[in-house]
Amino acid sequence: MISRVVFVFLLPPAAVFAAEAVTPREAIGWKLFFDPILSKPQNTSCATCHIPEKGYESGTPLGKGAYGDVLPRQAPTVVNLGAAEYFFWDGRAASLEEQAKGPIENPIEMDLSHAEAAQRLNADKTYRQAFAKAGVKAIGIDDIAGAIAAFERKLTTGPALYDAWLAGDRSVFNASQERGRMIFFTRGQCATCHIGRNFTDGDFHNVGTGTAADPGRSAVSGDDYDLGAFKTPSLRNWKTREPFMHDGRFATLDEVLEFYNEPREGALGETELDPLGMTPEELADIKAFLETLNGDWPDLAPFAKAWKTLLTGGEAP
Ligand code: HEC
Ligand code: HEC
Repeated sequence: MISRVVFVFLLPPAAVFAAEAVTPREAIGWKLFFDPILSKPQNTSCATCHIPEKGYESGTPLGKGAYGDVLPRQAPTVVNLGAAEYFFWDGRAASLEEQAKGPIENPIEMDLSHAEAAQRLNADKTYRQAFAKAGVKAIGIDDIAGAIAAFERKLTTGPALYDAWLAGDRSVFNASQERGRMIFFTRGQCATCHIGRNFTDGDFHNVGTGTAADPGRSAVSGDDYDLGAFKTPSLRNWKTREPFMHDGRFATLDEVLEFYNEPREGALGETELDPLGMTPEELADIKAFLETLNGDWPDLAPFAKAWKTLLTGGEAP
């Protein structure tokens, strides 16, 4: 009982975190993330592909751009990326700022040149007023990407059951979750790559999912060592982020676990996985453990409120 009380003080619920003051830049970033103004035909926003209800992913194997073109990869989530060093499945962007500029001008995603994006926002009275409150007089692409990145850095998921366990309350896990935790960190070898606060080493690995059409990291690094390697995704809040993998090939977590149990032969490059030979009960235990990584999604209400305050000039109630 006592440890539970301590836990409540150490890790307040997500809503408490999110209620921290939202800066003008973050509020603008929130608005831009949901605004189709950043796409040439004004029909696609970041949130068209990164849908909050789908864990900021698309809910489909491959997303579609402003003109209906099917994208070559699945949209990854944009939460819990504050500490990431590489962005995109192949790590070709080095910051959230750099990343955000990509989809805006990508001809099959939003198809708006950076100059035109800046021009549109400078011509928009509401954005001009909002950016002025953030100290920006002439809006440029760096201000746009900077605001979106500032918003994204605020997108962290709230404490999950696993965090209560980490904080010292061993009683929160049932027997299956505890067995699953042991397998995850030992025999299952999952923590070789899915490690740290967000269950990712932020690095690139070959788990046998590369194809000739999409060799992953090697196309960026030019190094054969990286053939078939993709960025390790976070396992926090996996629920609602289905389907899984860079190409959305697995519709459910069960399919992912079966794959790890018997990795495919003949993958591009050299897979780092060994067959696990787990029983169905052991796979169910891993799944039970992974369930404990699901916490609250970020509360967006404070951003909406801060945006309103920016425009009215008043203080948030
Ligand atoms: C048409 C769909 C689409 C739109 C619109 C879109 N994205 Fe994405 N996003 C993707 C896909 C697909 C990827 C993965 C591409 C890759 O790895 O090559 C991605 C990757 C990302 C990543 C990298 C995440 C990581 O873990 O590396 C971030 C961050 C992101 N998008 C943010 C944004 C922002 C901000 C916008 C709006 C300016 C945006 N996206 C617009 C589909 C989209
Ligand atoms: C050698 C490194 C490595 C090991 C070991 C590993 N993973 Fe992964 N994991 C990855 C990479 C890389 C991806 C992304 C592959 C892709 O997109 O094609 C991934 C993807 C996933 C996904 C899909 C997440 C998403 O957002 O699409 C889940 C779930 C997952 N791994 C769970 C596990 C579990 C459970 C284990 C242990 C049984 C495990 N992984 C072992 C590197 C690893």
